[in-house]
Amino acid sequence: MERTYIMVKPDGVRRGLTGEIINRIERKGFKIVAMKKMVISRETAETHYGEHKGKPFFDGLVNFITSGPVVAMVVEGPQAISEMRRLMGATRPWEAAPGTIRADFATTVDENIIHGSDGPESAAREIGIFFKPEEIIG
Ligand code: PPS
Repeated sequence: MERTYIMVKPDGVRRGLTGEIINRIERKGFKIVAMKKMVISRETAETHYGEHKGKPFFDGLVNFITSGPVVAMVVEGPQAISEMRRLMGATRPWEAAPGTIRADFATTVDENIIHGSDGPESAAREIGIFFKPEEIIG
């Protein structure tokens, strides 16, 4: 059993896609063991995206992710990290496989609807940034 950090980004929330995304996660058979809607502070955004600091898109990414509420989740299930990345589709929506969230709902890399951890270390790190242990209900 694996846990991953999933976040509906501000564009997904603004466009009313939260329910659609929750539906896809639950229909797959994964369990949402924690969830909250929140506006991320700049400090938290810079920590979350720390590995991208110095890249040309970093400031835009932080501005975007703090531009409105997000819906943060912990998703649990077998191979949840890689399987959620598969349901999400490639980061660049034009490279995402048909039927994936990004292929179906996004056109640009800077507003691509959803974030999901890319490996076990980042999943543990990101879950720890956004959730206290007692907020995770298995
Ligand atoms: S990299 O450096 O291209 O390998 O980055 P990657 O690990 O694929 O993810 C980059 C995250 O930043 C968001 N983002 C952009 N990436 C590339 N180019 C531009 N212009 C850009 N703007 C924003 C991208 O959506 C990834 O966000 P997350 O939340 O991790 O999916």
